[in-house]
Amino acid sequence: MDHFNERDGILHAEDVPLTEIAERFGTPCYVYSRATLERHWHAFDRAFRDHPHLVCFAVKANSNLGVLNVLARLGSGFDIVSGGELERVLAAGGDPAKVLFSGVGKREDEIRRALEVGIRCFNVESEPELLRIDRIAGELGVEAPVSLRVNPDVDAQTHPYISTGLKENKFGIDIRVAEAVYARAASLPNIRVRGIDCHIGSQLTDLAPFIDALDRVLLLADRLCAAGIAIEHLDLGGGLGIRYREEHPPEPAAYAAAMSYRLAERPYEVILEPGRAIAGNAGILLTRVEYLKHTDHRHFAILDAAMNDLLRPALYQADQDIVRVVAESDADPVRYDLVGPVCETGDFLGKDRTLPLKDGDLLAIRGSGAYGFAMSSNYNSRPRAAEVMVEGNQTHLVRERETLASLFAGEGTLP
Ligand code: LLP
Repeated sequence: MDHFNERDGILHAEDVPLTEIAERFGTPCYVYSRATLERHWHAFDRAFRDHPHLVCFAVKANSNLGVLNVLARLGSGFDIVSGGELERVLAAGGDPAKVLFSGVGKREDEIRRALEVGIRCFNVESEPELLRIDRIAGELGVEAPVSLRVNPDVDAQTHPYISTGLKENKFGIDIRVAEAVYARAASLPNIRVRGIDCHIGSQLTDLAPFIDALDRVLLLADRLCAAGIAIEHLDLGGGLGIRYREEHPPEPAAYAAAMSYRLAERPYEVILEPGRAIAGNAGILLTRVEYLKHTDHRHFAILDAAMNDLLRPALYQADQDIVRVVAESDADPVRYDLVGPVCETGDFLGKDRTLPLKDGDLLAIRGSGAYGFAMSSNYNSRPRAAEVMVEGNQTHLVRERETLASLFAGEGTLP
C-alpha cells in the first residue's frame, strides 16, 4: 500500500496533485511520500515486535538525506556500503551506534572512520578484510565489532544481477568454511565477534530461499556455540520484493512469521536490512512526454526522463508500472515504447504500453523510490533530476535539480 492515489482524475502524492509538483519543480522529478516510507518501516518493525530486533534501512536503495532523515526520526538503523553512505547517515541525523557496514571492498580510510564514529557492526566478507579491520582497530586502540557475512549457497530465484547468495557470487564467506574463519576472528586481539550476517539477493517474491538460508545460518550458530564462540545477533539481510506490476511478494508480516517461528526459542537479536521494501513504492519518477514518434514498425513516446535517471529497465529489463498523471485524455490509446533521449537503443523506461498520449502529457513511473535516483548518472551530460518529499499537503525540495554548470564543476581544461 502506498500514498500515490488518484483523486478527481489526478494522481496525487499524499494530498498534493502531481501536476502541481511538475509545475513547481519541473520534470523529470522524483517524488517521495513520507507517510509511505514510515508505513513500510513500521511494517517491518511491528512484524518483529515479539523478538528483539533492529531494522536497518539499506542506504544504497535511496540515500537522499531527506529520506534518511525521515527514517532516522523513527529510530531506524542503517546498512551502509561505503564511507560516502556513512557520511550521509550522519548528516541526516542517523545514530552511528545503529549502523552496519557491509560490502566486499572496505577501504582503510572507510574502516577507520567507521571505528572512530563507533558503528554497531562490520559485516565482514573475507579473511583479508578481517585482518585489516583488526589491524586498524589495534592502531586506534579500540575493539571492532564484527559479523561474518556467510554465503549459504541458496538460489534466491531472482534476476542473476541481484542474486548474491550463490557460491559463484563474490559475496560473503562460504558457509562451509565459516567456522574456521570465526575461530580466527575470535583469536584476533582487536576483534569482537557479534553475529552472523547473510544476504542472499534482492526482489525475492518467495519465502522459501529466505527460510533455507536461515536454517543453514542457525546450524552454523549452533556449531559456533558448541565451539564456545558466542553469537549475539543474526543479520538476515534485505531482499524482500515488492509489487511492480504482477508480482505477489509476501508482506513483511508473513516474512517475519516464517522467520520468527524458527527464532522463537533462540536468544539472538534479529537485524534486518530492507531497502526496496521500504523505499520502492514510496517514490515515483515524474516525467513528461516530449514527442510522439510514429515509424512503420513502432510507436515511440519520447520522454524527458531516460536511463540515466532510472536505470532499472535498461539494466535488468525491469518492468515498472507507468501511468498517466491526468487520467482523462482525448487521444486514442496506442501501444508505445516509452523511451528517453539518451543515445542508446537500451534507453527505454517501458515497452509495449498501451496509453492515450499527447505531447506534453505527464506520466508517473511507479515503484521508483528504491534504486532509482540512487543509480542515476550524468550520462549524455544530463543534469540529475530534482527530488521532492511530500508530507500531507506540503512539499519539500530534498535535492535541487542539478544545474548545467554543476555538470563540469571540478573539471578543467589544460594549461
Ligand atoms: N543488504 C545488503 C548487503 C545488500 O547487498 C542489499 C542490496 C540490501 C541489504 C538491500 O536489499 P533490498 O532489501 O533492497 O532487496 N539495483 C538493484 C538491486 C541491488 C541490490 C543490492 N543489494 C535493483 O534495482 O533491482
